[in-house]
Amino acid sequence: MSTSVLNPSNKKQDSIRDMQIADLGQVVAIEQLISQSPWSLKQFEQSLDDATVLARADKIIGFVVIASVLGEAEIHNLAVHPDYQGLGFGSLLLDDALAQLPESIRLLHLEVRASNFPAIRLYLQRDFVQMGERRDYYKTEYGREDALLMSKRVGTDKD
Ligand SMILES: CC(C)(COP(=O)(O)OP(=O)(O)OC[C@H]1O[C@@H](n2cnc3c(N)ncnc32)[C@H](O)[C@@H]1OP(=O)(O)O)[C@@H](O)C(=O)NCCC(=O)NCCS
Repeated sequence: MSTSVLNPSNKKQDSIRDMQIADLGQVVAIEQLISQSPWSLKQFEQSLDDATVLARADKIIGFVVIASVLGEAEIHNLAVHPDYQGLGFGSLLLDDALAQLPESIRLLHLEVRASNFPAIRLYLQRDFVQMGERRDYYKTEYGREDALLMSKRVGTDKD
């Protein structure tokens, strides 16, 4: 799979493709920049089959990890390099992932920190709804914070 992307000047070199072993160094570096509890290299290695990157030539701009089981899927990770946030790349990764979901998938789930307003806003714009919360689920610098559980109906019976 390959998709041209937005903005700015080098867009002909942009693509969305499966994550490869050679990408892992950049992927882990992005993860360490953006996450308070970053995934390890091993976690990404174990998720390679479920992972997609958005790349500009050899540079990784962002990635998404979505696992599917028995008619349901879950977004395990979604990130854009801080230098490229706010430019539409997260939307592009999410929309591509939604478009690539197997036809059998009917529900897509995710968990997000209650304080992560950019991500929550992005998910609300894509019609995810909050289905619940897990109290004190995530560690923070000062203690713990809740996770919001969000879901979106996908596929033919979404109405
Ligand atoms: C969440 C994330 C993937 C969004 O990617 P992005 O490329 O910055 O997002 P986009 O430019 O595509 O913006 C999409 C929407 O996200 C929301 N958004 C993005 N940045 C925002 C910000 N700083 N403040 C508020 N909302 C924001 C907006 O709703 C925006 O849509 P709009 O511009 O039409 O209002 C990115 O901010 C990121 O990597 N954050 C750190 C990792 C993370 O939190 N991942 C999600 C874990 S559940």
